[in-house]
Amino acid sequence: MTDARQGLSGLLDTEAIRKDFPILDRTVHDGKKIVYLDSAATSQKPRQVLDALNEYYERHNANVHRGVYTIAEEATALYEGARDKVAAFINAPSRNEVIFTKNASESLNLVANMLGWADEPYRVDSDTEIVTTEMEHHSNIVPWQLLSQRTGAKLKWFGITDDGRLDLSNIDEIITEKTKIVSFTLVSNIMGTINPVEKIIRRAQQVGALVCIDASQAAPHMVLDVQALQADFVAFTGHKMVGPTGIGVLWGRQELLEDLPPFLGGGEMIETVSMHSSTYAPAPHKFEAGTPPIAQAVGLGAAVDYLSSIGMENIHRHEQAITQYAVRRLLEVPDLRIIGPATAEDRGATISFTLGDIHPHDVGQVLDEQGIAVRVGHHCARPVCLRYGIPATTRASFYLYSTPAEVDALVDGLEHVRNFFG
Ligand code: ALA
Repeated sequence: MTDARQGLSGLLDTEAIRKDFPILDRTVHDGKKIVYLDSAATSQKPRQVLDALNEYYERHNANVHRGVYTIAEEATALYEGARDKVAAFINAPSRNEVIFTKNASESLNLVANMLGWADEPYRVDSDTEIVTTEMEHHSNIVPWQLLSQRTGAKLKWFGITDDGRLDLSNIDEIITEKTKIVSFTLVSNIMGTINPVEKIIRRAQQVGALVCIDASQAAPHMVLDVQALQADFVAFTGHKMVGPTGIGVLWGRQELLEDLPPFLGGGEMIETVSMHSSTYAPAPHKFEAGTPPIAQAVGLGAAVDYLSSIGMENIHRHEQAITQYAVRRLLEVPDLRIIGPATAEDRGATISFTLGDIHPHDVGQVLDEQGIAVRVGHHCARPVCLRYGIPATTRASFYLYSTPAEVDALVDGLEHVRNFFG
């Protein structure tokens, strides 16, 4: 143990928590215990979520909203029960505001397409503007590029400062009376920056623009209260918050969901269908065409129960302590440059860095040989790498099961990388 670990406060009882995550006991490369530092890509899953998935398939599997028989009613109750759990987790005023999708990308594409097909007052056309930021994951850039190409709307964005924060110095020129939608991330997936939501929302509200927040890297790590946020849409994904893959969420304000048109058509989302036309079911079903991800929603419900039992404030406090420690220790590594806020405060538990001129793929490979799992590349946020003139970064990301000892393992591993490459 290093002296630097002393004085860390707010840590969770990771010894107990890690017992819930069977994969964390795995070894790789001849018995090296895995050090999993890639939770921003996907989190590991606790036994409670794995059991919920198993139990669903073993005892209740049937299609939802259709059957009159017992297990179909059970499946429907479990699926809709998961919606209740998610609604409570994000403090949604109504369960009908929670739409299940397959991931955050689909949630963001859904918003772009709702607007793409909408009439006034939501219509996006060549007289209007769409605003995003240079800090986004590709899933919050490409849908808006597609919408801009289809409608002629101008795509604008906030740039990034040298220290990895949004540059809002020109906020009144970026968000104008022509802006229809402002879509941005609450926490950067590549740099861990936590963005000043209130300031952006205040300006968007001044000009009557809608606000969509990508909360993929926030929902797993902090209290997410959609009423306090005051956005119009909030998107996130289950697999980053100890839930299964294949389930995402779009929360939207009820009156918008009532007004805006559906994107995907099919079963489940209709009220009546004739060969000439159809009428649609009320939200959220209007936006959930086809058989939904039932088991995955049930798994997400179990994930939400799990996170709530530990407490999102406690998880956030734990991650802040780990991040504070990690920033301090990483800055001790010669030639290491943090890409993004190099402070411990006011940032999420994701840290990107470069190590001299060693390519991040080489860093990742040598770390892997020591059992350390990090992500390398542009992290689906290539404009950030372009902004800093680098091809890629190495990214370490922490979660409720991460320990200071794992930070030490990373720092030792990086020392090994430096020695390896001379
Ligand atoms: N969006 C995930 C990441 O940032 C995949 O790694």
